[in-house]
Amino acid sequence: MNASLPESLDGLCLRHASPAEIRPLRHAVLRAGQPISAAHFAGDDAADTHHFGAFGGGAVVGCLTFLLNSLDDEPAWQLRGMATDPAFTGRGVGSQLLAFAEQALRSERPDIVLFWCNARVPAAGFYRLLGWRAVSDAFVIEPIGPHVKMVKSLAT
Ligand SMILES: CC(C)(COP(=O)(O)OP(=O)(O)OC[C@H]1O[C@@H](n2cnc3c(N)ncnc32)[C@H](O)[C@@H]1OP(=O)(O)O)[C@@H](O)C(=O)NCCC(=O)NCCS
Repeated sequence: MNASLPESLDGLCLRHASPAEIRPLRHAVLRAGQPISAAHFAGDDAADTHHFGAFGGGAVVGCLTFLLNSLDDEPAWQLRGMATDPAFTGRGVGSQLLAFAEQALRSERPDIVLFWCNARVPAAGFYRLLGWRAVSDAFVIEPIGPHVKMVKSLAT
């Protein structure tokens, strides 16, 4: 997937990232076979959009993006572009990165407690383990396939 993949995940670094840093992984995992432009999302360059990356040995092995996008008129962060390099799935990269990003956004904007996403159905179990819950029936987003809307609230 990535020519310079690290041999181990020791010292995994979780941090804000630029769109340019995470786009190759986003493209490879989520838009494979499509032009690189398909990995450019509306709002990627907005001032209130936050991109996060998990870096191992300097290479990006995980990525996600949060856009400020209200849900049912409530201010909310929309999760998009969640991906782990296939060479490193099942080793905690995605869960650590998502927890890190949720906390970072919570610190930056304590007034926003709602997170949501259109989750790919095969990934819904991942989100469920991390405290997200489905709030819709399955629906299809072409050409990707079935999705389900999921939310997580950090309201106490
Ligand atoms: C979904 C994805 C981001 C998960 O990343 P990851 O780095 O493998 O996740 P983690 O290793 O942190 O997994 C955390 C837990 O979720 C579980 N899990 C991971 N993927 C899962 C899935 N698709 N369904 C159910 N459980 C899953 C893991 O087994 C682990 O469980 P454990 O804590 O009991 O061991 C990754 O598999 C991926 O990139 N998939 C392809 C792209 C995709 O579908 N992205 C989501 C788009 S909405």
